[in-house]
Amino acid sequence: MLNLGILTISDKGWRGQRGDESGKAIRDSLSFLDSRVVKYEVIPDEVDIIASKLAQWADEGSVDIILTTGGTGLSPRDVTPEATLSVVDKVVPGLTEAMRAQNFKVTPLAILSRAVAGIRGKCLIINLPGSPKAVGECLRVILPVIPHAMEIVTGEVTEHVALDTKKD
Ligand code: MTE
Repeated sequence: MLNLGILTISDKGWRGQRGDESGKAIRDSLSFLDSRVVKYEVIPDEVDIIASKLAQWADEGSVDIILTTGGTGLSPRDVTPEATLSVVDKVVPGLTEAMRAQNFKVTPLAILSRAVAGIRGKCLIINLPGSPKAVGECLRVILPVIPHAMEIVTGEVTEHVALDTKKD
């Protein structure tokens, strides 16, 4: 059972000027995974608020994966990737590279997302774009590898660690 955190990053959503369809899209896309949402919040596009929320959730140890939605684009207020990079121990570029590459075939706009992914402690943090449609398209690409990725992050599968140790 994976414990999920959903963090919607949107000035308008935070002010109550629009509903959180993207957060709902994440829940819907993940419904077939053995998972439950244990943390959920809507926060504004402020780098310090985003970074401290990500760090807090990851360090509490109650969430295995944090999925953010929004703030990955090119506008001055889009700072989700910067906030994420400021709190992760390691980046996991393949996840977001695959999202962009696969979705580019459907819409060229996909490469306008600067989404990043990374690990903080035993928590995997993944940025998703802000539109509900994009959320579904991106999760479809990466969901197949998430269960195995989490086995490695949490140390349940140790073969990869053993290989690294041999190299040392
Ligand atoms: N990815 C997919 N799969 N489908 C989309 O429609 N929209 C793009 C991109 N990623 C899109 C997508 C657009 S238009 C933008 S501006 C960026 O995501 C960033 O969106 P964000 O700032 O809401 O995170």
